[in-house]
Amino acid sequence: MIGRLNHVAIAVPDLAAAAAQYRDTLGAKVGAPQDEPDHGVTVVFVDLPNTKIELLHPLGEDSPIAGFLAKNPSGGIHHICYEVEDIESARDRLVASGARVLGDGAAKTGAHGKPVVFLHPKDFNGCLIELEQV
Ligand code: CO
Repeated sequence: MIGRLNHVAIAVPDLAAAAAQYRDTLGAKVGAPQDEPDHGVTVVFVDLPNTKIELLHPLGEDSPIAGFLAKNPSGGIHHICYEVEDIESARDRLVASGARVLGDGAAKTGAHGKPVVFLHPKDFNGCLIELEQV
């Protein structure tokens, strides 16, 4: 059911420093910061040949990243995103198998303008999983 690894999202305490590190130290292709107020994050996209890295920093008061950084002050992997062809059927299959979908269970428009759901990390080896319909 799941396809390509779409991205790995890393919460970072200092977005400019993290972007510079990926660009200058790791030699990656790094984009400009983008505010995404609907998601409570500022994102820097790092393009790799086979996937993307998203550097996430809190934006606004109710950012989902703020609590994560409070627990992990030096940053850390926040979630990984797998591609699926049909978000509704993927969600239904997972719910039928006992996995928990975060929120009200409905697919939402994600950071790339495509439908996404998030799966509870306790059901997936401690890893928050995002599914994105491509
Ligand atoms: Co994501």
